Amino acid sequence: MSKSKNNKSINEITVLAPATVANVVCGFDILGFALDGLFDKMLIRKTSKKGVTIINKDNYNLPTQPDKNVIGAALLALLKEVPEDIGFIIESTKIIKPGSGIGSSAASAAGAVVGANHLLNNRFSKEQLVEFALCGEAVASGSKHADNIAPCIYGGITLIRSANPLDIISIPAPKLFVTILHPQIEVKTSDAREILKKQILLKDAIIQWGNIAGLIAGLMKSDYDLIGRSLVDVIVEPVRSMLIPHFDEVKKKSMDAGALGGGISGSGPSIFFLSKNEKIAKAVEQAIMNVYKNIGIKFHTHITTISNEGVKIVTS
Ligand code: HSE
Repeated sequence: MSKSKNNKSINEITVLAPATVANVVCGFDILGFALDGLFDKMLIRKTSKKGVTIINKDNYNLPTQPDKNVIGAALLALLKEVPEDIGFIIESTKIIKPGSGIGSSAASAAGAVVGANHLLNNRFSKEQLVEFALCGEAVASGSKHADNIAPCIYGGITLIRSANPLDIISIPAPKLFVTILHPQIEVKTSDAREILKKQILLKDAIIQWGNIAGLIAGLMKSDYDLIGRSLVDVIVEPVRSMLIPHFDEVKKKSMDAGALGGGISGSGPSIFFLSKNEKIAKAVEQAIMNVYKNIGIKFHTHITTISNEGVKIVTS
């Protein structure tokens, strides 16, 4: 049982689970990073009553039946590995809008399992937590991809070298600023996956391999130019960008404003750009606003950085 500083047993904690950017342009389903300052909040209580109870404290009207809810499915997977008769009550306050493309479902799933694990004295490894959280991600998108969940749990930039068996590698990186555009439209991950081609040309695969390898090398060598020229996706972006109004114009204007590169965040509709410093990140934000302010779609923009921390336990 978890103990507080004064050695009392802890049965309740609050966690903050960060938003994440998945794919990072050329790393479809294998690369992602955690964002500073954008997170979901969850209060998690351990009870002696078996099962999972979900209480929504926001207006998103998400299902509360555990096997139909991202948090519930992730915790049910974790509880299968717990021999004691216990359960969890979760009060979920979502701030990351579902369907925004910045890892809303992953934050719910990852936050829940990291918090539950804390109340169980951290008996599970990070990789096991990713496996449990993937059961939640599958409820949301119909697919068990870990490129949002891994950075949400590990923090920083993570590479999924292998999904089965899981092999997650944290990638060191130089300071990078992230400008995000979130058009207020919904793109369902399941729909955005459905439209992708199931087969690709070898010549496109070769370009993509070059770019993903170049991006990892650029991050590890703190080589901004290499990062920039590797942020190219010839496989997914050409198909999905049609789901996002004015994508090409936003990208062109952001690059003209000095962004290193960028593209669709996860399955969209959010778009992100990386910049070397805050001044450029702000110029990119302004360029995006100039495109979006007259097109009649509500939008939010954010400037942030990559968070080196994953899910945070804020009270215990
Ligand atoms: N890699 C996933 C996709 C991320 O692009 O479909 C979205 O959850």
